[in-house]
Amino acid sequence: MGPLASLPDEIAAPGLVWKADASLADHTSMGVGGPADWLAVAEDEAALMALVAGLRERDVRWMVLGGGSNTIFSDAGFRGVVVKLGRGLRGVEAVEGEPSLIAGAGASLSAVMNFAKRQAWTGLEWAAGVPGQLGGALAGNAGAGGGEICPLTERVWILDESIRLVTLERSEFTYSYRRSSLMGSLILRAQLTLTPGDPAAIEAAHEAALAKRWEQPVGKRCSGCMFKNPEGDYAGRLIDAAGLKGLGVGQMHVSAEHANFMINEGGASADELLALLERVRSDVRERFGIELESEIRVIPAE
Ligand code: EPU
Repeated sequence: MGPLASLPDEIAAPGLVWKADASLADHTSMGVGGPADWLAVAEDEAALMALVAGLRERDVRWMVLGGGSNTIFSDAGFRGVVVKLGRGLRGVEAVEGEPSLIAGAGASLSAVMNFAKRQAWTGLEWAAGVPGQLGGALAGNAGAGGGEICPLTERVWILDESIRLVTLERSEFTYSYRRSSLMGSLILRAQLTLTPGDPAAIEAAHEAALAKRWEQPVGKRCSGCMFKNPEGDYAGRLIDAAGLKGLGVGQMHVSAEHANFMINEGGASADELLALLERVRSDVRERFGIELESEIRVIPAE
């Protein structure tokens, strides 16, 4: 890895853990992708700041990987440093006197949802069973069943280009369906405001959202929905109607349960996944004249 070999010596800080040649298949829910030159886990905000300052100073290529549920790496992996958020960036706490919480960008969406549920706050029930971490959810305005994360978000703390902590109020970022202007920002934490609710109703809504997830291929190696729903229709319906359920390229298959899911049946490669996505896209285009747009990020090796 040439000039990168000495990075852990050059950028050392308490709470910063380096791992060389880390398999990215192990860090994404789809389970494909080659090795990253380095995986760096920042255990807290101070470690993350030291890391990012060091990487920027040296002009090293890097990216933050959240839960890995919407990100795909190629078989060649990632030249540079993949950053993960450790325990100190995963906390969730209540804001005194308000139905509001502050959570680290590395907190799982389900941890945030369960915290709200314990407080009997309503608004996040749709997130039951939705994978991923808060930072990634904000960057892509994650949602399900009509709910989404950005409208609940009061403010977001990010690190700017000069490694300064900046607070963005809700009026300072924009979002739409599965899109937000926070994509590309280094998100540290966010404050979500919910509504006091009835515990039984929250539990029922939570169960209903989970039941909906169970119609989907949960527990398999997959990345959730692969394509955004086009205006006025559903990607799953279109792929199904094009007769593509069960279609496979190597070990990667279109789910027989829900056509907008692609399943790694074991040992699939990123190339197989990309070939399958392309085939699905072109068949739907030919059949219905609709261009499906990907919901996942595909990260180039360099
Ligand atoms: N459909 C089919 N065949 C299929 C799958 C779906 O005909 O194989 C039809 C269904 O019958 C339904 C329509 O397509 O009429 C929509 O399907 P569904 O109700 O399952 O919802 P979806 O729009 O496909 C969205 C989110 C999911 C979320 C569910 C449930 C998107 C792209 N997807 O799916 O989110 O879990 O609602 O709330 O918005 C994700 O983003 O990763 C994800 C899984």
